[in-house]
Amino acid sequence: MKIAFAGKGGSGKTTLSALFTRHLAAAGLPVVAIDADINQNLGAALGVAPADLARIPPMGAHIRDIKELLRGTNPRIGSADEMVKTTPPGPGSLLLGMAPGNPVHERFGHRVDGATLMVTGPFSEDDLGVSCYHSKIGAAELYLNHLVDGPGEYVVVDMTAGADSFASGLFTRFDVTFLVAEPTVRGVGVYRQYADYARDHGVDIRVIGNKVQDAADVEFLREHVGDALAACFGHSAFVRAMEKGRHPDLAELEDDNAKTLAWMRDTVDGAVKDWPRFTRQSVEFHLRNARAWAGAATGADLAGQVDPDFVLGPDKLAAQRAAAAGATA
Ligand SMILES: Nc1ncnc2c1ncn2[C@@H]1O[C@H](COP(=O)(O)OP(=O)(O)OP(=O)(O)O)[C@@H](O)[C@H]1O
Ligand SMILES: [Mg+2]
Repeated sequence: MKIAFAGKGGSGKTTLSALFTRHLAAAGLPVVAIDADINQNLGAALGVAPADLARIPPMGAHIRDIKELLRGTNPRIGSADEMVKTTPPGPGSLLLGMAPGNPVHERFGHRVDGATLMVTGPFSEDDLGVSCYHSKIGAAELYLNHLVDGPGEYVVVDMTAGADSFASGLFTRFDVTFLVAEPTVRGVGVYRQYADYARDHGVDIRVIGNKVQDAADVEFLREHVGDALAACFGHSAFVRAMEKGRHPDLAELEDDNAKTLAWMRDTVDGAVKDWPRFTRQSVEFHLRNARAWAGAATGADLAGQVDPDFVLGPDKLAAQRAAAAGATA
């Protein structure tokens, strides 16, 4: 299941991404956490030491290699240079699973307390005026577009703040989007912006109130986001300890906040996978991208990269595995 954490800057996206990742990993479940924010803070929130963080290869810096890998033998994609961040998979593409052996996890993943952390990388000085951060996040988009995840398998993505995530099709790549909102006017304002974009695309948004202190805070959130308010996470001494560089055991998290994490997992487990829609939207955003800029930028026939009969899903991954096993038998 693909899960996004979105919301206003400073609302708690990184904190809740990290805690939710730890919650899943502590239950022994396969979970990949992706830091796809300009402020790369997820690794620290997961308790990765700075020296180890510095050694994690950023996906955004190796996007060409990722394209080369994922295009596999897809005859519709002539070269990695013709591939853009929205190029959807088709017959011959390398599909990714969550089981051990995923080559993207092997190259870019860092194991931390049972979870796998990957990072898109920081926005560097060299990028200024040359490319935008969205091109780095494109590495995560390509990965998600080729990933066949099943029930009980989780990918948690810490997104950029505000409505930036809508600059590409990335926001349609998730089974559940947790919109983290503080009980403030600006916090709920970002929800409204998100909801407007998301409505047309069937994006499933659940608001998680954060830094909630009392009943009046809950009332405020309910008044402004209505039924979209799914759960609340309280102002937390545990989180403040994290902020001081400590990495307390998850068992020490306040009971109500632990219940919120468990509830979030139930929400994700109850979400329905819709591979035809996932495929349709990846094609839709690819064609939109092609018309807007990418066709001219690459000189490639981007529309021709789409196989109209291909629908991503577990059957395609199973077929790829069977073919690989046959080839080595
Ligand atoms: N439930 C909470 N209780 C107490 N402090 C919290 C809570 N949630 C987040 N914070 C604090 O709020 C600040 C912002 O949190 P965080 O970095 O997770 O937000 P963010 O949305 O990822 O921010 P950015 O947009 O900068 O990436 C941090 O100092 C964090 O420790
Ligand atoms: Mg953050």
